[in-house]
Amino acid sequence: MNLFVANWKMHMTRAEARAFAVELSRIVPPGGGGREIVIAPPFTALDALGDAEGRWRIGAQNVAADAKGAFTGEVCAKMLAELGCRYVIVGHSERRRLFNEGGATLVRKLERCREENLIPIYCVGETESERDDGVGNQILTDQAATLAGDPPDAPLVVAYEPVWAIGTGRAASPGDAAAARTLLAKLLSARRDLRILYGGSVTAGNCREMLEAAGMDGFLVGGASLDPKGFAAIAGFGNM
Ligand code: PGA
Repeated sequence: MNLFVANWKMHMTRAEARAFAVELSRIVPPGGGGREIVIAPPFTALDALGDAEGRWRIGAQNVAADAKGAFTGEVCAKMLAELGCRYVIVGHSERRRLFNEGGATLVRKLERCREENLIPIYCVGETESERDDGVGNQILTDQAATLAGDPPDAPLVVAYEPVWAIGTGRAASPGDAAAARTLLAKLLSARRDLRILYGGSVTAGNCREMLEAAGMDGFLVGGASLDPKGFAAIAGFGNM
């Protein structure tokens, strides 16, 4: 089933999240209408967003690498599971770049997710200079190698998010996204339950082509997910 994930980053108070939920619930039918929709708000709004009629699920944008302990400011996987989270974004490029998260830390985060039956949305993607230097595929290969110890039977979502496309208004071409998708599918061919998403300046205007031409299983949406109508349109509801 196609998957549409709203990554709100550090936006939306609880009141704003509730208003978004009211509006989205007017557009998306109970049960989600044959797609899977996930909203990943800041931690503070997670419990304001549950939908009793199954229109969407909630996910977290991050998780601690440790299960519990003296880690001021961290939130562990068990706490997220208790709030009803189903998914956790792991390895977003903003976490890699701004918070120095790399392979070893991400392996531990993946392990913590699995202990609590949380499905990782594992992000990969090359920077602009890596692409220009012709090492984009190597970067994706290295980042995918972080998944080597993750159980192959467990459901996994991988998001291809070229760093140069995030928040820039310059989405990858469907052809480039398709090539990355093919590489990732090959690297992860042992996985039994894998969905590959595209992320990076997805809008209601460019999403159809990306879904069809690039063969994506859905999207990880940042900026355009802050508007309920626009996000619903990306998920294929209503007209935008
Ligand atoms: P964007 O962000 O849609 O605003 O480019 C995507 C992401 O960072 O997941």
